[in-house]
Amino acid sequence: MLKKLPIGRQDFRVIRENNYLYVDKTKYVYELIENVDICFLSRPRRFGKSLLVSTLEELFKGNSATG
Ligand SMILES: Nc1ncnc2c1ncn2[C@@H]1O[C@H](COP(=O)(O)OP(=O)(O)OP(=O)(O)O)[C@@H](O)[C@H]1O
Ligand SMILES: [Mg+2]
Repeated sequence: MLKKLPIGRQDFRVIRENNYLYVDKTKYVYELIENVDICFLSRPRRFGKSLLVSTLEELFKGNSATG
């Protein structure tokens, strides 16, 4: 069964709680937190900047991805 696509969704919590398809970026988030001081997300439109920031917000609030 294909998962729902999270079209227009940029809130990590909404995506995880509603079982939308989510490409796991844990490896890159870890590298970012460990190695980067100041970061400019220079990606084109619709490349997941807002969802990444929402993911960081949930992470630093201590909320898990699996519930
Ligand atoms: N890791 C991911 N897994 C699945 N879908 C994703 C992922 N990251 C982003 N998307 C989806 O891609 C679309 C664009 O994401 P988002 O709004 O975060 O991009 P953006 O770079 O902030 O866009 P904009 O430049 O328009 O503000 C959304 O539908 C979002 O749900
Ligand atoms: Mg955005």
